[in-house]
Amino acid sequence: MTKVENLINLSKYPINEPDSPQFKKVVNHVKNELSQDGCSVLSDFLTDWGLESIANEAEQRKDQAYYSESKLCNVYLAKGNPKESKDHPQNVFMERSNGFITADFLSEGTFSYSLYHWEPLRVFLAKCLSKQKLYIYEDPVSNMIVNVCKPGQTFNWHFDTNEFTITYLLKGAKSGGCFEYVPNLRLKDDECFDEVKKVLDGDRSRVKRLDLRSGDLQFFLGRYSLHRVTHNNGNTDRLLLIQSFTEAPGIVGSKERVKDLYGKVTEVHNKRDGEQNRNDNLLD
Ligand SMILES: [Fe+2]
Repeated sequence: MTKVENLINLSKYPINEPDSPQFKKVVNHVKNELSQDGCSVLSDFLTDWGLESIANEAEQRKDQAYYSESKLCNVYLAKGNPKESKDHPQNVFMERSNGFITADFLSEGTFSYSLYHWEPLRVFLAKCLSKQKLYIYEDPVSNMIVNVCKPGQTFNWHFDTNEFTITYLLKGAKSGGCFEYVPNLRLKDDECFDEVKKVLDGDRSRVKRLDLRSGDLQFFLGRYSLHRVTHNNGNTDRLLLIQSFTEAPGIVGSKERVKDLYGKVTEVHNKRDGEQNRNDNLLD
């Protein structure tokens, strides 16, 4: 039986004591940062043991990761638009060449699974994100995954489908592999194509770079903030645990998208009907 409490640095982040002053202090800190630029990092969130345990689990499963090598994608991870010019953001396709260990390889009994399903964590995250309640994302392939970025690989500029992501750096790149983002580059009702184009053209005036360390927890509002992971220039893999949560129960990803990103779908995806989990009309 995994002692999930031992995975988290509870003396610094007492997430299982919602009435404690420290809990409230941490929540307020995250809320403030998220409202400012859509990103907040809790350093050393995982204990040394927790980090080692979860990172080892990922290392052991790396060979089973699905790699969509050297694929070209636009920032919307969607099709181009023939009605627009060649250099329109919808028609600029960039390299995306990393892989994912999918949720089915991190099933019940793993440290990653225990952490993801621990209810106090979900309550804490909901408070930080100003959500009434968070649910486990019901997608059996992608609700909790490890992103594997091998030497030479990159995940270029893009927006996320989800409003927010929760990630834990398990192992950083020795060189490169930096997380960069442009806070609030698009709005709920405006794609802000001109601003997106500027970043794609190399304008770094609004670009921020994070100095993440292994064991850090990162909150990120990736639906509105363009972001990327730069090329891994080291000689070891960069590993990142990604947990997804939803604001309603029973949500799964679309069959096409899950197949494209993770190389497989299940019966659950075949049965899924219509678009889910959208409160805007953005391109994706
Ligand atoms: Fe992303």
